[in-house]
Amino acid sequence: MYTIAGKPVDELVREYGTPLYVYDENAMRQRLGDYRELFRDDEMETEVVYASKAFSCLAMVRLAAEYGFGLDVVSGGELYTAGKAGFDMSRVYFHGNNKTLAELQQAVKARVGTIIVDNAMEAEVLAALMQDADYRVKTLLRINPGIEAHTHHYIVTAHVDSKFGIAMTDEAEVVQTIRLLQACPNIEFAGLDAHIGSQIFDRNAFAELVRKLFAFAVRLQQEYGIRVHTLDLGGGFAARYTEKDAPIPLPEVCRCILDTCREENRQAGGLIRKVIIEPGRSIVAEAGYMLYTVGFMKTTPNRHYIFVDGGMSDNIRPALYQAEYDALIAGREEDTPAMTYTVAGKCCESGDVLIDAIKLPKTEPGDILVMKTTGAYGYAMASRYNKLPVPGVVFVRDGQAREVIARETYEDLISHEK
Ligand code: LLP
Repeated sequence: MYTIAGKPVDELVREYGTPLYVYDENAMRQRLGDYRELFRDDEMETEVVYASKAFSCLAMVRLAAEYGFGLDVVSGGELYTAGKAGFDMSRVYFHGNNKTLAELQQAVKARVGTIIVDNAMEAEVLAALMQDADYRVKTLLRINPGIEAHTHHYIVTAHVDSKFGIAMTDEAEVVQTIRLLQACPNIEFAGLDAHIGSQIFDRNAFAELVRKLFAFAVRLQQEYGIRVHTLDLGGGFAARYTEKDAPIPLPEVCRCILDTCREENRQAGGLIRKVIIEPGRSIVAEAGYMLYTVGFMKTTPNRHYIFVDGGMSDNIRPALYQAEYDALIAGREEDTPAMTYTVAGKCCESGDVLIDAIKLPKTEPGDILVMKTTGAYGYAMASRYNKLPVPGVVFVRDGQAREVIARETYEDLISHEK
């Protein structure tokens, strides 16, 4: 039987039912440990910040804390989760292009360490809010370096018309915004932040980003006397979804970034003290599996359909980004593929196809279909479309399973309804 972190999937299905989000905790720990070891430098301070949008829950936030990570949050809800998990607030990075006043107040009350200011209006609101705060918050200014990383266009965040950040080319606006922040005694302007996209395979994109940010930091100092000492390079490191994907191995991507930073920093006379990265997907994606039970099947002139008991409600990525996934039939993963199937969900929408075409051994109703690499932006983007309860989440470590989020019940579905 196919196992996840030493636990046979048929046991998981018996104990927790399907559909089910399962995480190999050993794999996540390995990944967190690798980042911690690899993103280190003798000349610059470094910090790895887990982008909790990829998968946020108490257990995951605690895991990130255990490995000494910082935490990227993008909403009051993610911030609240971090607080409930007991995460050190001074290590929290609060992102977002449209933080509400209530969210900013919540952040200041919680004494969040760093706020990433996304635009000029936010700087004004924050400065006003910090006037009578009882601590000093660090800020990074999100800038748009105009780099288009090679990835799906929906998730590129740095093209010229991006809603995120101030364009690097709009220097007057950048300078004015930084001055506004610097004028507030309770705000420390620490440096620049950028994020050039997600699921990036091209290492040149990261090297290019580093060079652009360093050049800009130097320019800000020389032209305007603005001191930048921290650079946050964002996330975007790719995961392997199917055999077509060849992500840059972690040691290489870390080395590439750090080598480029060191080189640039020497030329910049040691201007930069600290470099930050914010991986999300690359920590949780490959550790995640989705377990489904095969239900009805049908053959049309062009397709052999397998219907599963979940779908776009637990994983919107295929429908939204045409994301591709690999899967297997538990207990028959070694069998020779019998035919090409289309795996579709149970939602009332033709676009609810999880895998367009996959070769699998002969499949029957009742089989367990294991979809791989579902750990990032799956649970995080789940919906209750068709009033399907959100499935539970189970972590498996050394053969031992623990439920970290209970499956929703029908009662939960209407619990807020009046
Ligand atoms: N930092 C910032 C400022 C970000 O905007 C993001 C992701 C990250 C870090 C983490 O990026 P990662 O390492 O996970 O690629 N829902 C899409 C992905 C959206 C990513 C948004 N920002 C998907 O399912 O592919």
